[in-house]
Formats: sequence, structure tokens, C-alpha cells
Amino acid sequence: MTMEIREKAFAKLNICLDVTGKMEDGYHSIRSVMQSVSFGDDITIVPKDKGGYYVQSNIKYLPTGEKNIAVRACRLFRQETGLGPEHALIIIDKKIPICGGLGGGSTDGAAVLRALNREYKAGLDKAGLEAMASKLGSDVPFCIAGGTVFAEGRGDRLTRLTPLPESPVVICKPDFTSSTPDLFAALDRIKIKVRPDTDGLIDAINKGDLMEVARRMFNVFEDALTKNRKTVINGIKSRLLDLGALGACMSGSGSAVYGLFYSGEQARTAVEILEGEGIESFYTVTSQELDLSV
Ligand code: C5P
Repeated sequence: MTMEIREKAFAKLNICLDVTGKMEDGYHSIRSVMQSVSFGDDITIVPKDKGGYYVQSNIKYLPTGEKNIAVRACRLFRQETGLGPEHALIIIDKKIPICGGLGGGSTDGAAVLRALNREYKAGLDKAGLEAMASKLGSDVPFCIAGGTVFAEGRGDRLTRLTPLPESPVVICKPDFTSSTPDLFAALDRIKIKVRPDTDGLIDAINKGDLMEVARRMFNVFEDALTKNRKTVINGIKSRLLDLGALGACMSGSGSAVYGLFYSGEQARTAVEILEGEGIESFYTVTSQELDLSV
């Protein structure tokens, strides 16, 4: 029987996202509260006798080789620990919309590291895995951590916050994709006029006050969008609010927009209505700390 290693790769949301400067290496410093949700990709790693690392997925244009972060995660894990398969097929059942600002790539990379650490008994703790994850990308350490986290630096300096109570979320995916480097560059060309109240948001989270959390959802990237795209994002945000969301904003560099709800029933109805209006929408809930077996 072939050994198969399975792992869930959860999507992330940015409840607030501020870009505070540009560092010498070209990366930007950010301040963001990140939140994982229970919706995500399913990863299966099948060790093989030959063939290197390669990906198969339900999405035609997903890279199958070195360009796929899941492949890079396998290689990095083996380089750093000497453990893990030398050859493997990685099956990605992709449910998270691509280029949506939902950490779809980062979370696949994190899931591979988590799964290999567990199955090959490498014994890395969360901090060790997060350090390895930061070599794969800025959002990957958060995807190891999961839950409700304040991220600083390039997104990899993490402080765990009181977990947000499990809350319904509606994620909408407009039919354009957004490139993270392009949007950072667009942000460099404008002056950020309004910034999130990050400290107020952290206070609200630590008090467990969902209304105050929702009031402070804010993403500076929305201002860097082209006029047409901004109109689309604002249109979806106001539909989410009409349909009962307590707050709504774009996640990461977009283009996904989400609404935070109090009532699961209202959120499910919102999904039906938005789908009826031709807006790809998903129901999920915020999830607390990931169950990381090390
Ligand atoms: O770290 P990651 O590979 O996910 O970043 C992708 C790109 O996004 C970087 O090459 C950089 O252009 C931009 N970025 C940035 N500042 C960050 C995170 C990402 O400028 N904090």
C-alpha cells in the first residue's frame, strides 16, 4: 500500500492591513491582523521512488514543478532536516481562489511543512516551523501559526492574539485577479490617506467585541486599486453590508472581499443571493488556533 499524507491548508483573511514603509531589500513593512478560516485546500503527499517532486491538481494552470510553493516546501524541508521523501507526488485539491489575497499558495507551502514534520517525526516546534516557513514567503509563517495573529515586519513577525470567537464569514471573489508585487508598487506611487486603527482593532479582539472588530476592518490596498476595480470591490462590500455583514473589506492584495457576520443563517442566505447576482461566493467560519501535532 502506498503511504499517503493528508493535510488541510486553511485560507487566511486580513482583518486589517497597513503598509508602513519600504525596507532596503525592497519588501514592505506591514502591520496586519490575520485570521484563519476553516475553508481551504486539501493536500495529499504521496512519496515515490523516483521522479523528484511534482504537483497534480484540479486547476489546469497551477504550476506543477519548482514554481509551485508546495514543491519548494518539500525541498526546503528535506534540505533543512534531512528527512522527508526524496521524490513525491503532491496532490492539491484547490478550493481557495487563486490570486485572491487569501494566502492560497502560502497555506499549501505551510501545510506541506506541517505534514512532513509530523509524519517524519522531525520534532520541530511551531517556532522552528515558522522560521523555516519564512524562507518560502512572507505569509507562510502565519499559515503555520493559524488562528488570530498580529503580523509585523514583512508579515513574518507574529504575535498571537485572543482567538476571535468562531464567526460566520462570506468570501466573494470578483472575476479579476490581483498581483501582490504590482499592488505594492501601485501603493508606492500614492500617498496613503487613511490607515486602519490597528491598535484599536487589537484591543477589540482581545476584548472579544465582534462589533468593534467589524468597525475596524480596513485594508490600505483598496486605495491602490484602479478606479474600475475599486468600484467592483466597493460594490461587493456594500452588497455584503446590505445583506447583514457587520463589516466588510478586501483581503490581502485582493481581489477577494469578505464580510464578517454575526448570524450564520444570514451569511448563508447572503451567499445564495450573491451567487444569484453572479458573484462567486463561499460560506466559511473563522477558525481558532490550528491543531498542530508536532
Ligand atoms: O514574500 P512573498 O514571496 O510572498 O512576496 C511576494 C512579493 O510581494 C515580493 O516579491 C514583494 O514584491 C512583495 N512583498 C512586499 N512586502 C511584503 C510582502 C511581499 O513588498 N511585506
